[in-house]
Amino acid sequence: LSLCGAVVILSYLLGSFPTGYIAVKQLKGIDIRAVGSGSTGATNVLRTLGKGPGAFVLGIDCLKGVLAIALVYYLFNFAASQNLIPTTVDVKLWQPWLVTLTGIAAILGHSKSIFLGFTGGKSVATSLGILLAMNWQVGLATLGVFAVVVAISRIVSLSSIMGAIAVPIVMVVLHQPLPYILFGIAGGLYVILRHRSNIERLLAGTEPKIGQKITTEP
Ligand code: G3P
Repeated sequence: LSLCGAVVILSYLLGSFPTGYIAVKQLKGIDIRAVGSGSTGATNVLRTLGKGPGAFVLGIDCLKGVLAIALVYYLFNFAASQNLIPTTVDVKLWQPWLVTLTGIAAILGHSKSIFLGFTGGKSVATSLGILLAMNWQVGLATLGVFAVVVAISRIVSLSSIMGAIAVPIVMVVLHQPLPYILFGIAGGLYVILRHRSNIERLLAGTEPKIGQKITTEP
């Protein structure tokens, strides 16, 4: 049990790693939270520094999600190899619950980073990494929804919101275990809530398309 707790805490710390903040601080000497949308995510890095750094931050933030879930599998393998799992414990039943808890911890870490005074991004890239590690078909289908909306609208936030809505539906369609479906619902709602300011701009018709500037203060 303490190993499970350690994995959840480690996952929060992993999610907290402020990739976008560090990239913009290093390359431009400014605090990304004071520019554009104020988010530390890849979209705001793209806006602030351009495609290369944006793609880099997207990749690393996605990797944080993959690594968080890989930690759980590593833990279970390690515990099994050391005979630490009592025979009464059904690993197949409990592993998806720990994967879910760990995923939520990583998402919270990304948007409420302990290294940035509990500020951060909107958890889209990290969630994608988690979904790909949970079940790659779910991850790819979600990415597909995102890509279609981005190709049509050229608005990243709208695409993220549509992806977040799609996750629990994709989970059900692909017969995923209950904890994963609950992750899809909770994570999806959380990501949408993180997009409150984007939703206001979308409704006002002022949300920028890729390549456009944000005219309001972060
Ligand atoms: O991944 C976050 C994206 O959906 C919105 O980012 O910076 O436009 O608020 P941003």
